[in-house]
Amino acid sequence: MKRIAFAGTDGRTLLCALVAATATSAHHSDTFEGVVVRGTPAMPEFSKRLRWPVAFVPTPDNATKAYASAIIGALKQGAIDAVVPMPEALLFEGIVDLVAEAGLSDRVMGLDRKGAFIEGDKVRCKYLCKKAGIPVADRWKDVDARQYGDVLATCLDFIDTHGGAVLKYPYSAGGKGARIILNTWDIREVYDTLMHDYKAEYRRRFGKRGGWPLLIESRMSGVEISFTIFVDRLGHYRILPTAMDYPERFEGPASKTNPITGGVGALSPHPMETEALMEMAGERIAAPLIEAMKAEGILRPCVIYPGCFVSLDAFGAPTHIRVCEINIRLGEPEAQPIARRLRNLGSLVKGALQGTLDRISPEVREDQVALCMALVTGPGGPDGQRGYPWSCTKGEVLDIDFPYFKRKGIQVIPSAMTYDAAEGVFKSDGTRVAFLNANATVKPGEKREEVGRRLRNKLLAAFDNGKIRVIPREDPGGNRLDLRRDLGTHYAKAAEIFQT
Ligand code: GLY
Repeated sequence: MKRIAFAGTDGRTLLCALVAATATSAHHSDTFEGVVVRGTPAMPEFSKRLRWPVAFVPTPDNATKAYASAIIGALKQGAIDAVVPMPEALLFEGIVDLVAEAGLSDRVMGLDRKGAFIEGDKVRCKYLCKKAGIPVADRWKDVDARQYGDVLATCLDFIDTHGGAVLKYPYSAGGKGARIILNTWDIREVYDTLMHDYKAEYRRRFGKRGGWPLLIESRMSGVEISFTIFVDRLGHYRILPTAMDYPERFEGPASKTNPITGGVGALSPHPMETEALMEMAGERIAAPLIEAMKAEGILRPCVIYPGCFVSLDAFGAPTHIRVCEINIRLGEPEAQPIARRLRNLGSLVKGALQGTLDRISPEVREDQVALCMALVTGPGGPDGQRGYPWSCTKGEVLDIDFPYFKRKGIQVIPSAMTYDAAEGVFKSDGTRVAFLNANATVKPGEKREEVGRRLRNKLLAAFDNGKIRVIPREDPGGNRLDLRRDLGTHYAKAAEIFQT
């Protein structure tokens, strides 16, 4: 198993293929090749210019069936030996089942349609956690979304006992289906907005029948940390390094004007990662979840990605962990800094498929920190677009100073970006256009927060000096791209809190 493919169109897909192909293990002599199934039109051109050893398998379109037939063809011809589907939609729509039907089940990582409810149906996942004894919100209720009286009574109860409630549309919602209510005044408005946003989806799923499931959880607080866990076909598991995700578009708490996005940056390791925390996540979440998956008959080689709230003591040691949701894929952009700290991504994928993860531990660059900054489409455009994550203008030309980025050791990963071969230029395709990645080593005697600050300044300087720009139609000297400026400051914050 040599040619490892990652299927999808976003930055993590290309980056994982590149890491699988280039990072070298200190303990294993296995070498791997990295392949992207589909990708975006900018990716092959980037790879060509930067001499990245990544191959591409095209698909006729973005449909799951098109991915499946391209993957099956490539596996049969030996162009790839294994595949990791990245977007959850592919898993929900049964990509694993389609590849398995072609007799290639042992070559594809991920849960099949039957198991995909773990991410795709938050109510069913809660019942699974309950059965497995996995800690979740202290209280939760599964109500009929159309019965406002039940929603109101549950929210009031949870506000009284836990200071807040979270309404969760339980199906796939791209991270936008959870709405927090902190006081009684907000209940009606938050409820109405959620119903407005998901009424059509509920109708599509259930028609006019009653019983639209809505999950209500009591409010949890603590530090949010997600764990990327590789699981092999026999149920052995390995927890990869953690990353801190920056989901809010701007600095500060989420609000109407500071929405939760797909993620505008990530930092690895998470500032609160400790060995004790990794052990706790393994014992309280991964192990019981895998047992439950076995009991349900849905265990497969896969990625599980539980998002958790962690409570800490005054020394930063974990005292409690609660699962907020469980995803079944790698995070974007969290997978990027995680993968950049790994030396044996290819071996881990191979181990998951072959059932040998008990013998393959993640080889982590423990002395390094990795920062990933998303460059998103900012405001403006012909229709006065508000920018990511609202409306975005597309089709504007990029100007990238490749030699500068090479000199500075900054990796630019294209995401929502196309390539215009006739004009020989890259063009923005809206949303998260590209990611800037860099690692730095924390040398003996150095403080992690100082290294984090240098890394952040390096990436900000590249941006502020216009080394990568989306040229606005109305302002050839400007830059349509935007980023969040506090990314990477959390090592310093953690050091202040815990006085390290
Ligand atoms: N960045 C959030 C996610 O991938 O789920």
